[in-house]
Amino acid sequence: MANVGGEVTSQSGDDAVRRPHAIERPHHATAESTRVGIVLAGGKGTRLLPTTAAVSKHLLPVYDKPMLHYALSTLLLAGLRDLVIVVHPRDRAAVRRLYGDGSRLGISIALVEQARANGIADGFLAAMAERPGRSSVMILGDNFFFGHGLQAQLAEALADEAGGTILTCRVKDPRSYGVLTLDARGNPLRIDEKPARPDSDLAITGLYVLDASAAEKGAVLQPSERGELEVTDLLRAYLAESRLRALPLGRGTFWTDMGTEARLLQAANFVQSIQARQGWRICCPEEIAFRKGFIDAAALRRLARRSPNPYGRYLAEVADGRPVDS
Ligand code: G1P
Repeated sequence: MANVGGEVTSQSGDDAVRRPHAIERPHHATAESTRVGIVLAGGKGTRLLPTTAAVSKHLLPVYDKPMLHYALSTLLLAGLRDLVIVVHPRDRAAVRRLYGDGSRLGISIALVEQARANGIADGFLAAMAERPGRSSVMILGDNFFFGHGLQAQLAEALADEAGGTILTCRVKDPRSYGVLTLDARGNPLRIDEKPARPDSDLAITGLYVLDASAAEKGAVLQPSERGELEVTDLLRAYLAESRLRALPLGRGTFWTDMGTEARLLQAANFVQSIQARQGWRICCPEEIAFRKGFIDAAALRRLARRSPNPYGRYLAEVADGRPVDS
């Protein structure tokens, strides 16, 4: 049992977190999802060596907060409170230090280890072994989403209980992503992983909304040529059943992965530009947990005190109702 801002939460079982008794200013409260939220943060961050030789890619700073905060924020915005983070065994203790069991954010966070780099679908299966039979939202731990319409789009993506939903984003150079080709009627036709000559500019972002059949589909996947269980093969299983839905992110939404030094820097610069100009910090899980009504103002003030610096002062201001969210 843990005490979260005056309310008691239990960390056992699927209904691990109860609603807080007293909710102050739940600005964007949306329906709470029964889906499990999965953050994939395994892997060794090879593309960022030597930076990642001693530190997990997912804990690197992206301007004022660790990379994982961005993926976590997206899942919280989607209304998910039961989360599994898949980690490399090396990083387990560090991620636990960062989030505890999630109760201080009014959520539940279980950690699952993925020892070998066997691919995204392999990490997904490891998480599903922890939460069998559940539908899910999986996000890659190096993905960053930001935009005014994002919360509504996430709600739309989660609305369909059956099938799989992906979010696509137009990018100038899609060659480092899974790429979606649409048919003449705009329906998903083909998926190619990192094609040398893409015939579409629609990158498949690292956020996957999957029904409960995904674990069965994943269990029969065969390793690709590079020896990994590929998420694109999992998506192809939905495509083969005509049950893959693709929602395009609007041009007002910023999406990037942060898996190379250039994109890591771009993301950090983006965060700095918005925050310096507007005064709002973006993708603070503590603020989102508060605005969603997962924690109350007293719990947010306690979280604020953990960072005795401008970050913590910002959280304290949010707890006091400043700045006013219009
Ligand atoms: C992975 C997926 C790819 C997807 C991308 C999104 O690639 O394999 O389909 O488009 O994430 O970030 P990775 O970044 O692991 O190479």
